[in-house]
Amino acid sequence: MEGLSLCFFMFVVLNASCSCGGRLLDTNREEEIILFENGAGQAPPMGWNSWNHFQCDINEEMVRETADAVVSTGLADLGYQYINLDDCWAELHRDSEGNMVPKASKFPSGIKALADYVHSKGLKFGIYSDAGTQTCSKQMPGSLGHEEQDAKTFASWGVDFLKYDNCENSNITAKERYPKMSEALLNSGRRQIYFSMCEWGSEGPALWAKSVGNSWRTTGDIEDKWESMTTIADANDKWASYAGPRGWNDPDMLEVGNGGMTTEEYRSHYSIWALAKAPLLIGCDVRTMDSTTLELLSNKEVIAVNQDNLGVQGRKIKSEAGLEVWAGPLSNNKIAVVLWNRSSSKATVTAYWSDLSLEPQKVVDARDLWQHSTQTSVSGQISAELDSHACKMYVLTPS
Ligand code: GAL
Repeated sequence: MEGLSLCFFMFVVLNASCSCGGRLLDTNREEEIILFENGAGQAPPMGWNSWNHFQCDINEEMVRETADAVVSTGLADLGYQYINLDDCWAELHRDSEGNMVPKASKFPSGIKALADYVHSKGLKFGIYSDAGTQTCSKQMPGSLGHEEQDAKTFASWGVDFLKYDNCENSNITAKERYPKMSEALLNSGRRQIYFSMCEWGSEGPALWAKSVGNSWRTTGDIEDKWESMTTIADANDKWASYAGPRGWNDPDMLEVGNGGMTTEEYRSHYSIWALAKAPLLIGCDVRTMDSTTLELLSNKEVIAVNQDNLGVQGRKIKSEAGLEVWAGPLSNNKIAVVLWNRSSSKATVTAYWSDLSLEPQKVVDARDLWQHSTQTSVSGQISAELDSHACKMYVLTPS
């Protein structure tokens, strides 16, 4: 029976401890939660995905080299564990038995061999399909109507993560199509496959997908541009209260290192994604990334915010003429804060204790996560002068 049950139903009082007690950072929630119980996604997933940098130009050698680089650069040790193929890995047509077939010109050794290689490096392997008749590239089939067969194929290859897209969907609702794959994965013999739903937020998945997948895209595709990144951050923020362990909002993959934003813009992108408990899926070419990119992606203290046990999505709590404060509670009564200057000129951004729902007399230590320095005995407010599009990220610990 256990293997067949789709989800696990519970009535929970999520009583995350937070000394602040005010509304914005108060995580006391009483709600009925139906969780997708496959054992994956306790924390937001971390890894790499081929799409943002390579689109359809992928092959097995590049993926093996990427796995090598994730290990040799130290990213694997920091928690980046999934190596995920996106669109275009399969032939256009299924074989005579209806199976998906790895594209011979790009993956001559097959997907199982590639997954084995990735596993041999101590990493996990992810793949991509679509809840429609074809994927968005139209270069390979989707899994609609083949959910059980494809889930079993992926399981037999040792797949650990499935990203499931939404193109060519025959106008059947996502609510109807996604649970089929969800159930097929649970019954595939490899129950712990992380299920990443990619229906672009079109049917408000935050409201219903907790029982279906481990995360759900809340927006359309990110582009490697400041405008796109900030718009997506805001759109994802609206759903903050629905995220938590095993069911995360997904504002799309990282563009850090792809060249379309400045270092400070990428620092903001990474800080906000980490605070928002977004999946941290690197989207650049890790084989050739520069040292600045590696440094941004390797900040242990920022990663710790993303992976914090409490699993509460930080959110925008103040915005005045592009000067923003984003914050969220962490375990052990800590608070993560991002001061963010989204305006076009240098400015000072301040978070007052009242913004953070901290009592006025509260004294904290403020750890600057990018400077790696601590200000002790901070009271009343924390502020920083920031260049246009720059941010500061702190963890406040009550003294
Ligand atoms: C989009 C998806 C992208 C990428 C692309 C592949 O629908 O949002 O992340 O997977 O399809 O064609």
